[in-house]
Order: sequence, then C-alpha cells, then structure tokens
Amino acid sequence: MSQDLVELAKRRGFFLGTAGAYGGVAGFYTYGPAGASLKDNIENAWRDRFTVQEGNMEVDAPTVMPEAVFEASGHLDGFDDMLVDCPECGESHRADHVVEDNTDIEEAEGLPIERIEAVIAEYELVCPSCGAGLAGQAVEPFNLMFETNIGPGSSSPGYLRPETAQGIFVEFPQLAEYARNQLPFGVTQIGRAYRNEISPRKSLLRVREFTQAELELFVDPEEDVPDLSDVADVVAPFYSAEAQYAEDGQPRELSVQEAVDEGVVADPWIAYYLGIAAEWYERIGVDMSRFRYRQHLDGERAHYAADCWDAESEVDGDWIELAGFAYRSDYDLSKHREHSDEEYTVFKQYDEPVTVERPTVDPDMSYLGPEFGGAAADVADALETLAERDPDAFREAGATDDVNVTVEIDGESYAVPVDRTGFAVEEVTESGEHILPHVVEPSLGIDRALYTVLDHCYREDEVDGEARTYLALPPEVAPTTVGVFPLMDRDGLGERAREMAADLRAHGLSVAYDDSGAIGRRYRRQDEVGTPFCVTVDYATIGERADDETREGGGDGDEPGTVTVRERDSTAQVRVAIEDLGATLTALRDGDLRFEDL
Ligand code: ATP
Ligand code: GLY
Repeated sequence: MSQDLVELAKRRGFFLGTAGAYGGVAGFYTYGPAGASLKDNIENAWRDRFTVQEGNMEVDAPTVMPEAVFEASGHLDGFDDMLVDCPECGESHRADHVVEDNTDIEEAEGLPIERIEAVIAEYELVCPSCGAGLAGQAVEPFNLMFETNIGPGSSSPGYLRPETAQGIFVEFPQLAEYARNQLPFGVTQIGRAYRNEISPRKSLLRVREFTQAELELFVDPEEDVPDLSDVADVVAPFYSAEAQYAEDGQPRELSVQEAVDEGVVADPWIAYYLGIAAEWYERIGVDMSRFRYRQHLDGERAHYAADCWDAESEVDGDWIELAGFAYRSDYDLSKHREHSDEEYTVFKQYDEPVTVERPTVDPDMSYLGPEFGGAAADVADALETLAERDPDAFREAGATDDVNVTVEIDGESYAVPVDRTGFAVEEVTESGEHILPHVVEPSLGIDRALYTVLDHCYREDEVDGEARTYLALPPEVAPTTVGVFPLMDRDGLGERAREMAADLRAHGLSVAYDDSGAIGRRYRRQDEVGTPFCVTVDYATIGERADDETREGGGDGDEPGTVTVRERDSTAQVRVAIEDLGATLTALRDGDLRFEDL
C-alpha cells in the first residue's frame, strides 16, 4: 500500500492505529466511518455468497471460550509461532519471518526450529530493529492465544478465540439437529478472532484482533460430492506444492474443472470453494491479475489440516494470504468427541435396512475378578474392543486347542479362556450407522480483503487538467453509494437537495450530503472515498416543482425535474428524472443496471 494511500486511509476515515493518544498499541486498528462501512459491505457480500446463496446457517458464538475447548482443539499445545529475541535491544521477532525476509527461503513457517536456528547462524541474520547478530539465540515456540480468567480468581482460565471455527465445532451436536442430521450442511460465522502476534506489521495485514468469515461444511466423506457445474469454468492461477518445489515451477491458469480433472486440487469440495471465492474476490474489487491460489507445502499446514490452499493477493510486491481453504477431515469433531461427553456424530440412514453380524462379549466377571484383580474391568473392556475389531480371534481360539483369547493392556498380556468371555455373534438389522462427518473450511480474513481492495482500487488520473486520486470500489462495497450536492446552498437548492438525500436514505441508500466549497472539490472528496455516484441538484431540478415560486426551469436548458448523476471512474454525467432516482441508484449499486446503459 503506497504511503499516499495510507495517508488517504487515515485522512478519509478508513482506519487508524488505535489509542494514538496513549502512544498507540501495536497490532490494533480502529476503522473510521468509511472503513467501518466498507468492512460491513464486504461482510454482507460474503454473507450473501457464502451463507444465503449456499443455503447455509449462520451462528454467532462468544469470542471467549473455556480452556477445555482449546485443549481439545489442539490450540493450547500446537498454536505456536517461532520467537527469537534480540540479545541487544530485547525486541522479539518471528524467527521464520526474519529468515524469509533475508534469505531466498520463501516459506519458512514449516521448517523445524533447529533448521531455523541453523539458517540464522549460517546467514548471520541480524535483528531487524537494531542490527545486532541473532546467531546463537534460541528460537522458542510462542503460543499465540490471549489468555484471560473467566470470573474472579484464576481457577477458570479462558482464551480469546484464535479462530471463529471452534465456536461452531463445539456446538456441532445441536447444529446437526438444526440441520435435521442431513449431511452435507454448512455453518458460517463472521466475527473477531485474536492472536497475540509476535510482530504485528504491514498495517491491517498482521494484527492482533481481526475479523474472520468462516464456513464449516460438514460432509459424509464417503458419499457427498459437490456439484461443480456453477464454478467449473471459473479460471484462476493455481500454484501447486509440486510447482513450488520444482526449480522453475510457476502457477498455472486453470479452470476449476481442469484443476480437479488434472488432480491439481485433490478434493473437489476445496475446488468448489476456490471457484466461489475467486468470483467473490473479483466482486468486491480485488484485481484478479494480482491474485492466485497457492497450495500449502509439507510442514506449513495447520495441525488440523489434511490439505490446504491459500488465496493470495499481491500487495506492494509481496504475496499475502487472504484466506485458507482447508480439508480438516474429522480432526475437530473427533477431538471434541474424545474430550467431551457428547458424541459429535450424525446418524446416517441406509437406503434399505441391512442385516449384519454383530460380535458381542459378556465376560464372566466372577472369573475375571479373582483372576485379574484390579485389572478385571479393563480386561473386560479390552475383550469388547477386540470382539469388535477382530472377532476371528475368538472364533480361532474356540476352534483350536488354545482355548485362550489374549488381550494386551499397557504392555501386559492377559489370557482369558474363550468360554469365559461370553463371546457370541448376533444377527441384527440396522437401519443406519453413526458417522463422524468431515469438515471442509473456507476461512477468509476480512481485514486483509479490505486492505487488498483499497490497494487494488487505488487510482490516480487527471480530470480537467487537475490531478485526482480516487478509489474504483465496486458500488456494492463502496462506503457511500451516492453524494448529494446542491449546486449552491441558496434559492431553495440546498433545501431540495437535503430532501432528496433524505429520500434516497429512505430507499436504503448510503448517502453523503455536501454543500461546502466548489462543486469540483466536492466531487474530489467523494472520489477519494470511492463514492461511485454523485447527484447534483440545480435550477432545472427545482424548476419542476409546482410550489416553487423562486425559479422556473434550469439555468442551462436541462429538462425540468431532473438531476445530474455523475459516475466516479469515467466522470460522465447523465440527467435522471427525480422520480426515478432512488430506483436507478439502487439498481446501479446492486449491479442490475450499468451506468453506460442509462
Ligand atoms: P499467516 O500465515 O499469515 O499468519 P495463517 O495461515 O495463520 O496466516 P489462518 O490461520 O489460515 O492464517 O487464518 C485464516 C485467515 O485469517 C487468514 O487467511 C487471514 O486472512 C486471517 N488472519 C489470520 N491471522 C491474521 C492476522 N494476524 N491479522 C489479520 N488477518 C489474519
Ligand atoms: N479457521 C482457520 C484458522 O483460523 O486457522
């Protein structure tokens, strides 16, 4: 993001560093009025595409969760970045970033700590803050979660969620009920996530509090496949792990269908969401010539992911991660099932009931008790597990001279006569089975999307011999849809323009009213915040009003009862009848009408 744009972002109310009056706090930003509105519009565009149009359910979970949730999810143990402290100035740095920024290693996150230490020593890397050598400094794992206490005292630790996803996973049993236990079903959430980043940087790109828009799709891995027809022809650059490992590997422009057919994207659900997301990023204003999908390398994937692709955009010559598309398999549900009292499964009904053989045991505890003492109950459990897993062990024992079945518990063998196990095989008719769904997750960062959109939509040109800067934001996401100006604030023009602004607001449009300064200056102000349309009320406009005694007709011969509508990028102007204005601007904002067709 150019310095000019950073200044514009602050001056025009997009975002600013938080609590500047107190010296600021790294990694926290406040969205000003324009930024908050742009962010809302991006979130609503996401909600429209990923929740409404996909027929998914949206939830809103708390940002603080008890420790048990993150113990189960693996974040307590494994959600670490690599930290290296400077021996001179004491500044902390993300060790993999120090390596990436100063060597030709592009993805250091997946490297083991020992390798990072070795690279720092080998390249004699220095502290980015003071220049002191970092060789020999220990690289330590640093957990990114913010810890807090729930209630007074410290007996109930909690954590600010590092991803919104866990708020969905923990409630899975209830959510499955809402979905009437029918797979596949998707649950979405837009909300804040928190990571105590070691070195927040690049403005909104790496912050400690940010907004994620996540979709967790629960599927039956054996049966559910997506209908790719809607996205089959969507084309994007795919940068596979194989291409990244190859000496001269490059991203390949492929359609989603080609990416699946050629095995570039192994999972069709991931491919489906890559297609949807590419269209969505274009819709909100990302320049698709500065966009690509990149597959994670081995070691780069999060602890829960079996495969993962990132959406990336180019900003200031660097590729930044906008979103992750992970195949999380049954990792999360199996962990919550293991750690909680809930089942986290869904009942899958068969088309036809099936008759199956079910091995059972009914161990003779009057034998196991005296024989194995305190281990008797564990032996009984082990027999039950063995019967399910390997019923032949019982059958074979019954059919040979060796009448014992042997189970192992903590390295100890326990031999039980087969006739004391109560082994039997029952025939049962089953109408279905309990299965653990798999999860496919598109996880988008809203702040990085917003930052990319601002960067990609920033333009400089010349209008009437004067330099101007403007944001070519798509009307759907622009903070303000329409600027309303009276030509001058006199002769009733101001009053009429204010009425018109109120009228347009009543139409649900976001309107900025401005009557100060020359009209050209007012256009520039709106251009700078990306307002796609401006309406000017002039004498022709008020000439239409029957009750207006001051002026008749327009000063410039325009149709009475019309206003000028000016389009931001082309600066072209057309006259639109007042009674059509609300509907016209709404259609322009929603993409149902193009300005050039007016
Ligand atoms: P990075 O490697 O850049 O730290 P990540 O791989 O940890 O990102 P994910 O865990 O996949 O990111 O999170 C999903 C999305 O959340 C990211 O694609 C990004 O858009 C957003 N995100 C993650 N961390 C941050 C952050 N510190 N600041 C802003 N957005 C973030
Ligand atoms: N939910 C994906 C992530 O935040 O890591």
